[in-house]
Amino acid sequence: MKAVCPGSFDPVTSGHVDVIERAAKVFGQVIVAVAPSPGKEALFSVDERVGMLREVTSHIPNVRVDAFDGLLVDYVRSQEASVIVKGLRAVSDFEIEFQMALMNRNLEPEVETVFMMTGAEYSYLSSSIVKEIAALGGSVDGLVPRTVARRLEEKLRKLEEVNSK
Ligand code: PNS
Repeated sequence: MKAVCPGSFDPVTSGHVDVIERAAKVFGQVIVAVAPSPGKEALFSVDERVGMLREVTSHIPNVRVDAFDGLLVDYVRSQEASVIVKGLRAVSDFEIEFQMALMNRNLEPEVETVFMMTGAEYSYLSSSIVKEIAALGGSVDGLVPRTVARRLEEKLRKLEEVNSK
């Protein structure tokens, strides 16, 4: 069975990788799909996010990384997939995820949303909190894969250079 694991992944965290690894054990093929996230100002471009995801999932043979625009259910259909996989960290995620799952079902009744619990050690993690910690000089070791930590540092350094000119 083919599943799509969508998200902003700005940037991918260790919690995301944990959910992707879990999904890859359950589904025959997992497509990790990066959405442009309109309304939110992204730190990394979609191409950069796709690149980082490819690096950090290269050890999982049945995972492919892609980007999409428009409605998630249209993308899922275009890939001939039938499942959307979302990670759940805590009760606080539930309300918005519940709303999105039911809206996606309303749009496309043939597509099911499946929730996977992240490892407890990642339950407090989010891309936004990681970006905030990195921007304020804190360590993000273990919160994101090593290559992502490096990219984050580079990106923030470049932004600082631009802002100081
Ligand atoms: O990582 P995020 O920001 O929680 O991911 C949210 C995402 C990308 C899954 C959601 O915004 C989405 O599905 N976007 C695509 C547009 C769409 O289909 N919107 C209606 C969702 S009910």
